Amino acid sequence: MKYNPSKDIPNLSGKVILVTGGTSGIGKASVLELAKHRPAHIYFTGRNAQAAEEVVREAKLGGKDVVVTFIKCDLSDTRENIRKAFQDQFNSSRLDILIANAGVMAVPEGLSVEGFEIQFSCNYVGHAIILQLLRPLMVRTAEAHTDAGVRLVVLSSFGHTMHPPGGIEFDKLRTPDAGSKWRRYGQSKLADILLAKSMAKHYPQITSVSLHPGLVKTQLANSVDGSLISGALKLMSWLPLYSSPLEGAYNALWAATAPKAQIANGAYYDPVGKKEAKKGQSGGMADIARDADLADRLWQWTEEELKGLEALSFK
Ligand SMILES: NC(=O)c1ccc[n+]([C@@H]2O[C@H](COP(=O)([O-])OP(=O)(O)OC[C@H]3O[C@@H](n4cnc5c(N)ncnc54)[C@H](OP(=O)(O)O)[C@@H]3O)[C@@H](O)[C@H]2O)c1
Repeated sequence: MKYNPSKDIPNLSGKVILVTGGTSGIGKASVLELAKHRPAHIYFTGRNAQAAEEVVREAKLGGKDVVVTFIKCDLSDTRENIRKAFQDQFNSSRLDILIANAGVMAVPEGLSVEGFEIQFSCNYVGHAIILQLLRPLMVRTAEAHTDAGVRLVVLSSFGHTMHPPGGIEFDKLRTPDAGSKWRRYGQSKLADILLAKSMAKHYPQITSVSLHPGLVKTQLANSVDGSLISGALKLMSWLPLYSSPLEGAYNALWAATAPKAQIANGAYYDPVGKKEAKKGQSGGMADIARDADLADRLWQWTEEELKGLEALSFK
C-alpha cells in the first residue's frame, strides 16, 4: 500500500493519544506526524527528558494548538513507579490511541527492578502494566464515543521469528541469560503479537494490532550487546534498504488512524497494512504467533503477575 501520512491521516480533533518511547526513532516520528493532524492531546513516554523537550518543541511547531505532554517513565521500573508516573502526569477523560512503541533490542543481559529478563520487561511487561492502568479508560472511550475507533497498536518486529522453541520460556522469564540475546528479543516481540491478539479476544471494543515497522534507521542498534554486531548493524543502517524514522512510522500511523473497518482486530501487519503473510513469504509471521493456547497462557501469566495492580481512574 502506498502511504502518505499528510493525506492519509484524518483530522484527529478531540482525540487523545499516548505513544510510549516517543523520545527517539519511530516513536518520535509518530508523535511529530500525529501532532500535525490536530489531536486534542498527545502524551509520550521515555526516560530522556532532554530529548523529550526537543520533541515537544518540534511537535508544537508542526501542530497548532496541540497539547503535548512528556511522561518520564522507565518501563523496566517497578509497577508502582510506573503507576505513579502516570498518576502524576497523565490526566484525561479519554484515551483513543495507545501506540506501544518503546523497546530495546539485544541489550546486555540483565533483570528489571522487579526481576524480569530485561528485554521481556521493556518490550512486553512494561506495556502490559500501562495497559492494565489505562485499559478501563480506553474501554470507556470506546463506549462513550462509538465513532472513535479506539486503538492499541503494538510495535513488534520481524525479529519475533527468532523466538525460542515453544515461543515463550515461562520458567525462565526471571533469568537474565536464558538463551541468546536475539532469542530473548524474539521472545519479547512474539509476546507483543500475542498481546494484541489476546486484547482483541478479551476486549473486542478496542481494535488491537501488532506490527513490524520495517528496517528503520534509529537508535535501536546502538545498545546491541556485542561491539562487532552493533558496529555491523550501525554500518548496515546506512544501506538504502533502511528507511527513515518517518517512513518507519508509516505502518503504526496507518494502524492507529485508518478507519476501523479497514483493520482486522488482533492481526499482525507488515508495512504498510499487509496482513499476516505466511511463513516463508516476505515479512512472514511465525506459526507460533497463531497459537491461541500460547496466547491464552501468556494472558493468564500476565494477569497473575499483575494481580493487585489497580487501574487509574479519571473524571
Ligand atoms: N528500527 C528498526 O529497524 C525496528 C525494526 C523492528 C522493530 N522495531 C521496534 O520499533 C520500536 C521503536 O524502536 P526504534 O527503532 O524507534 O528505536 P529507538 O530509536 O532506540 O527508540 C526506542 C524508544 O524506546 C524508549 N525506551 C527504551 N528503553 C526504555 C525503557 N526502559 N523505558 C522507557 N522507554 C524506553 C526510548 O526512550 P528513552 O531512551 O528516552 O528511554 C526510545 O524513545 C521498538 O519496539 C523496536 O523493537 C524497530
